[in-house]
Amino acid sequence: MNTANYQYLFFNDYSEGAHPRILAALQNSNDMQELGYGEDDFTLQASDLIQQVIGNQAAAVHFVSSGTLANIVCLSYLLKPYESVIAVSSGHINVYEAGAIEATGHKVHELSAVDGKLTPDAIHELMNRMTDEHMVKPKVVYISQSTEIGSIYTKKELENIATVARKNNLYLYIDGARIGHAVMGKNADMNLQQIAELADIFYIGGTKNGGLMGEAIVIPNPNLQAEFRRHMRQKGALLAKTRTVSIQFVEFFKDDLYFANATFANQMAQLLAAGISQKGYRFLTPVLTNQLFPIFPNAIIAKLKPLFGFYEWQKLDNEHSAIRLVTSWKTQKSAIDQFLASL
Ligand SMILES: Cc1ncc(COP(=O)(O)O)c(C=O)c1O
Repeated sequence: MNTANYQYLFFNDYSEGAHPRILAALQNSNDMQELGYGEDDFTLQASDLIQQVIGNQAAAVHFVSSGTLANIVCLSYLLKPYESVIAVSSGHINVYEAGAIEATGHKVHELSAVDGKLTPDAIHELMNRMTDEHMVKPKVVYISQSTEIGSIYTKKELENIATVARKNNLYLYIDGARIGHAVMGKNADMNLQQIAELADIFYIGGTKNGGLMGEAIVIPNPNLQAEFRRHMRQKGALLAKTRTVSIQFVEFFKDDLYFANATFANQMAQLLAAGISQKGYRFLTPVLTNQLFPIFPNAIIAKLKPLFGFYEWQKLDNEHSAIRLVTSWKTQKSAIDQFLASL
């Protein structure tokens, strides 16, 4: 794809490099010698900072290079060969990871979503069906916070999911590729600590929030911590230079950079949404985080397409479609002004 003529790419939140502070931290550490495979001082410091943020000094923290790898490592760790994972049909593991989870030998149950979210009722219904010993056994509930359509689980909703999971002897795994955008989102009522109290395992996404790349896997459940590093090693996820990822998380969490980046991206999304609304257009789903899904006539989409990078998300009727716009920690107001002017 030739992007040279685009005024701005709204494709995603990883279109820019890294926050300057993160790049500087990597540069400043470049000449230092450190131990490998996550035994270095940066990794210890980053783990400690994350433990402080979630208020749990006993949680295990591990660093991996990508969200897909985090999902593969965590889910294959949690599941026995005959066990399966539950997700909404629009869930990232179900749609966008080229069968990465199925390739580990585990079925993904696709359940319908309400506003992009899994519901306790849907889990109940599945569990009532999957009782025969000749069937695969559901063992993990996978959700992402925020979801594929930028919606956010409220505290009450997440508590309800966690309760159903516990009742049914299921682990709760939260994909936090955009967890920063979720906790700083509009009307959000949960912080990282509260999420950590409900999840058995989750990850904190760096790639989409101003990191160069990498994610921090957090395991609050003490019964799930043993041998995780060995499992990571086997899956090719244990980085000899783990420091390159963990340094980024030291920067993120030694003050509020992680939350500031997400807040900024969300604010830019609100600015863009307000401008689009003012012109009389509607949205597929309320704008709460840094993903927006405005509905435009197809003729307008065709005119915007050569000017800006975005994905066409959903056809609504013969004349209208929703597109996806994503703002980042780096999106400038000028890009939003340009988009609105073109619109
Ligand atoms: C919710 C979610 N999970 C996981 C991923 C995968 O991340 P990566 O592309 O870094 O493997 C993404 C990326 O788009 C995502 O949005």
